[in-house]
Amino acid sequence: MSWDQLLDVAIKAARRAGELQLRYFQKGFKVEYKGEINLVTEVDKLCEQEIVEYIRSHYPDHGVLTEEGLFEGVSHTDVPCLWIIDPLDGTTNYAHGYPVFSVSIALQVRGELVLGVVFDPTRDELFWGFKGKGSYLNGERLRVSRTSRLSKGLLATGFPYDLKEDPVNNLDHFNRMIMKAQAIRRGGSAALDLCYVAAGRLDGFWELKLSPWDIAAGILIVREAFGRVTDFDGHPIGPYSREVVASNGLIHEEMLEVLRYGKRPTT
Ligand code: IPD
Ligand code: CA
Ligand code: CA
Repeated sequence: MSWDQLLDVAIKAARRAGELQLRYFQKGFKVEYKGEINLVTEVDKLCEQEIVEYIRSHYPDHGVLTEEGLFEGVSHTDVPCLWIIDPLDGTTNYAHGYPVFSVSIALQVRGELVLGVVFDPTRDELFWGFKGKGSYLNGERLRVSRTSRLSKGLLATGFPYDLKEDPVNNLDHFNRMIMKAQAIRRGGSAALDLCYVAAGRLDGFWELKLSPWDIAAGILIVREAFGRVTDFDGHPIGPYSREVVASNGLIHEEMLEVLRYGKRPTT
């Protein structure tokens, strides 16, 4: 099992899913509801199947942790190598024809994130990061921005699907942050938001109640681009964290100061 081959398999799996996403984006697809505002399309499931089957054809004894959970019978978390996969990040955008979505694939080896790949098929942008080797966008090395004040920073965030039922919904943090930052975007794909921090297109990103498949690849890609990723208290996080703050490092403390107050997840 070579590192180069692992990265190659992850990139090919992401590109295969991206091709499916583009094909169905043009020709149409079925949509179902998981919750009042939480959608799933047949493309989420097709992409998950494509990615997992491709990875398992190379590494049959690796575990998988996937959003749609189609492979529950074969996923196991007590294996040394675990792939953490969001087959389609940005499903609400996708279902509405809003062209901001991605595929996110990460690999954890003995609990440590070692590689992350995020592919945006509409822009043909492939982001990847490898522990100790840096982050890249279509082969170009990535580095976070140099913006040093929150008041000059462009940020992104997002809101959980249960925002109408649970007051821990980021609206209070958003209200405060918008008064301090230059501007805030809500892109709709957390995986891409993190990659944009790595690429210096955004100076910072925060969100709460995300899932491991939303952030696993992006966390590594930001860190390998010399960015900082923590919880709202400033502690370094892994993919299972319920809070994420990612930045160029320079505006991080100012972001934490804003996020310290307001409702936070208890688990
Ligand atoms: C969602 C996106 C969105 C974030 C949501 C996620 P999905 O993932 O990453 O940006 O705000 O909380 O659940 O459902 O499109 O895979
Ligand atoms: Ca997601
Ligand atoms: Ca998804």
